[in-house]
Amino acid sequence: MIGNIDSLLNFSNDLFQKKEIKPVLGQVAGVAQYLWERGWAERNAGNFSVNITSFFQDRELDRFALYPFFPLTKGYPDLSRTIFLVSGTGTRMRDMAASPAENLCLVYISDTGSAYHIVTGNPDCEYVKPTSELVTHLAVQQQLLQKKSPEKVVLHAHVTELIALTQLPPFKTEESLNAMLWGMHPETLLFVPAGAGLIPYTLAGTEQIATATLAKLDHHKVVVWEKHGCMAVGQTLADAFDILDILAKSARIYLLCKSTGMEPEGLTESQLAEIRATFH
Ligand code: 13P
Ligand code: ZN
Repeated sequence: MIGNIDSLLNFSNDLFQKKEIKPVLGQVAGVAQYLWERGWAERNAGNFSVNITSFFQDRELDRFALYPFFPLTKGYPDLSRTIFLVSGTGTRMRDMAASPAENLCLVYISDTGSAYHIVTGNPDCEYVKPTSELVTHLAVQQQLLQKKSPEKVVLHAHVTELIALTQLPPFKTEESLNAMLWGMHPETLLFVPAGAGLIPYTLAGTEQIATATLAKLDHHKVVVWEKHGCMAVGQTLADAFDILDILAKSARIYLLCKSTGMEPEGLTESQLAEIRATFH
């Protein structure tokens, strides 16, 4: 039974007021603002998903089935009855920073894992639809659950400095890209010891980019999508952002050195070995 529209609206308002969700909306606002200030979120660039299933009782989840229903082209059986905060497609991170609830939606995955329901936070707006990268987010979120990973967040942004590197012939391989990034700052190896996975140019929003990303995120916390951007996982949005920020720092140091007309030295093999031996 669908029940009356007022009770549905009250339910969706209550959801966004839920005590566990409110702090996450605060984190969304903070990270959206950083992405905008870094210049990594022009127009509608960037998106995220946060697994918030643990905030809900089983009986609460039943009510999501009353909301608009969209079939998925592929099933995600291990996501059955999970719920995510997902950025809205076409929304701006700078607007997200000011009013997160109006620029994201709750995506509830059906019992079979083959469809989703959406709930939006602003009853006056048309439904906010989830990001066009939803298939990649769901594939990665499913993999995190299958691996019982503590990570609950998937974050995509157009990290300018890393995109620039993927335009340069010396960095067309994962090995050369990571070797350079590790060499530019000691903390890059410390905090991103597995380096970044590199995905050759693939059309955004497709199953192909989802499959390639999934394979790389099996043993990396972050991937670089050639000529497009990055996707990172983290326990919180801030963790995922930090990974992007650290890699961007290394990339900036490299580009800054190159802008002098000289080649950066990089950390030596023995300096890198010392970091590995001391911290890993
Ligand atoms: P969405 O607005 O659909 O999230 O797309 C942004 C983006 O960066 C696509 O790669
Ligand atoms: Zn993008």
